[in-house]
Amino acid sequence: MIAATAPGKIILFGEHAVVYGRPALAAPIHHLRARATIEETGAPDVTLTAPDLNRTALLSNVNPHNPLAAIVRAVEKHCHCSLSDGYTLSVTSAIPIASGLGSGAAISVAVIRALAVYMGQGEAFTRELVSALAYEVERLHHGTPSGVDNTVIAFEQPVYFVRHDPQPAIELLTPGRPLRLLIGDTGVRSATKDVVGDVRRQWAADSRHFDSIFDACGRIAEAGRSALVAGDLAAVGTLMNDNHDWLVRMTVSSAPLDKLVAAARDGGALGAKLSGAGRGGNMIALVTGETEAAVAERLAAAGAVRIYKSDVG
Ligand code: PMV
Repeated sequence: MIAATAPGKIILFGEHAVVYGRPALAAPIHHLRARATIEETGAPDVTLTAPDLNRTALLSNVNPHNPLAAIVRAVEKHCHCSLSDGYTLSVTSAIPIASGLGSGAAISVAVIRALAVYMGQGEAFTRELVSALAYEVERLHHGTPSGVDNTVIAFEQPVYFVRHDPQPAIELLTPGRPLRLLIGDTGVRSATKDVVGDVRRQWAADSRHFDSIFDACGRIAEAGRSALVAGDLAAVGTLMNDNHDWLVRMTVSSAPLDKLVAAARDGGALGAKLSGAGRGGNMIALVTGETEAAVAERLAAAGAVRIYKSDVG
C-alpha cells in the first residue's frame, strides 16, 4: 500500500488581499494532516473512497467535479497517462472542512503525492509541481484562488507569497523565534468560495474603498515578514491585531470570530485574528508559555468548539 500525507495551514497575514495581488504569510500545521492511500486491485476502474464521509464511488461514474476525480484527472493530464483503473484511492483527514485550515488543498496534495509514488515518479514530482497541480484543482473549486493554500501545504514551510501570473513569488521563511499559536474553531462552517465571491462583489461595487483595505493588509504582511524573521513576537502580535481590524472592515469577520479574538486578547495573547476566508472557521492567537493556558481557557469559555496548538518555526 502507498500512503502520503499533507498538512493543514493557517494564514498569519493577508487573506483575501492576497487574491488581489497583495502579499500574504502562511504556515503549515504539521500535526493536522490529510492522508491518501493507494492499494492496487488489478480490477477495472478506480474506487474512490472517503471513509470519514462514508462515501465510495467508481471513477468512471462520478461527476468530473468530484474533488478526487478532479485530482486524478489533473495528474493524468500532466503525465499524459491513464490512471483510470487498477487501484483504490482512499482519503482521510484530521483537518476540519470549510474552516479556513486548508483541508481541500491538503487532500489534493496528499493524493498527488500518493499518485506520484504509485507511478514510480515520487522524485520527479517536486514541491513546485505538486503545488501547481493542486492549484489547478483549487481553481475548479474556488474560482479565483490566490494559490497561497496549495503553496504553503506543498512546501510545508512558512511562506511569504505574492500572486503573480504565471508563477507566484514565493519566499520560504525561517522565523527568528518560534511562534506558539493556539487555533480556536468557532464550529461554524464557511465556504471559502462564497466569502471570496462576496468580497469580489463588494470590491467591484466600491473598488477604491476595498483597494485601500487590501493595501493596508499588504503593508501589514510586509511588516509581519520582517517581524517574523527578526523574531519580534510582540510586533507580530500587534500586526495580527491590526490585520483582524482590517478583516472586520472587509466584512469577513463574524460575531463568533470576534468573540474568540477578544477572549484570546483578554487572556493575554500577544495578538489574535481570524485566519482564512472568515465568516466562520478558525482564528489564531499568538501565545507564550506563560499565557497559553489562560488563553486556551478563555477560548473554551468563549465557545471555541476545538482548540489546537501549533508551533511555527
Ligand atoms: O481556504 P481558506 O478559507 O483558508 O481561504 C484562503 C484564503 C483566501 O485568501 C480567503 C482565499 C485565497 O484564495 O487566497
